[in-house]
Amino acid sequence: MNIAPSVLTADFTLLSEEIKSIQDADYIHIDIMDGHFVPNISFGPMITKQISTLSACPLDIHLMVTDPLRWIEAFSASKPAFITIHVESNDLDETIRAIKKRGIKLGLSIKPGTSLEALEPYLGVVDLVLVMTVEPGFGGQRFMMDMLDKVKRLVSLRKHLHHPFLIEVDGGVNQETIGLCRDAGVDIAVVGSYLFNQKNRQKAIRDLR
Ligand code: DX5
Ligand code: ZN
Repeated sequence: MNIAPSVLTADFTLLSEEIKSIQDADYIHIDIMDGHFVPNISFGPMITKQISTLSACPLDIHLMVTDPLRWIEAFSASKPAFITIHVESNDLDETIRAIKKRGIKLGLSIKPGTSLEALEPYLGVVDLVLVMTVEPGFGGQRFMMDMLDKVKRLVSLRKHLHHPFLIEVDGGVNQETIGLCRDAGVDIAVVGSYLFNQKNRQKAIRDLR
């Protein structure tokens, strides 16, 4: 299992130490919120760029914004491994082209209330599918168990399509729920509050893996 710490719950007054504490992770997950697609605002491309200079760990940028197309160029400056947009957001096809033409891997995320059918037209082109296991907007929420079924259905669709996209989950992952994710077939787990509440993050990342 690959681990992608979400810096949303990090202490931003100590950002460089916080980033150093998770440098053994597989990705750093960057949660971008516009106060419109979700009822919260996080941070933008400037802070993301600064985070990218603090670590060699590849970035996994999760855009929870209504109009992702407006932001692709600005976030590309951080040279992320993935930019993940929501299937519920605007101008999907054009945004997908904008991400791909920059050589950045494409992630598509799906909210708990959206059915997998919405993703199906894109499963042949995505590099990653991000299944939200909480309602997006805030860290520290409870893992929605019924999303495991969505993951399992995605695993069988993947097998059927012969297209090797990665499956990631985001929200409420901790030392208990991560085992269920692994059993369901998840490749990458985003971990926010659970990890940043641990003193020894290196050990916590190892244990979660
Ligand atoms: C929720 C974000 C998540 C969240 C994860 O909208 O996309 O990445 O910060 O945090 P925890 O692990 O605390 O649920
Ligand atoms: Zn996220």
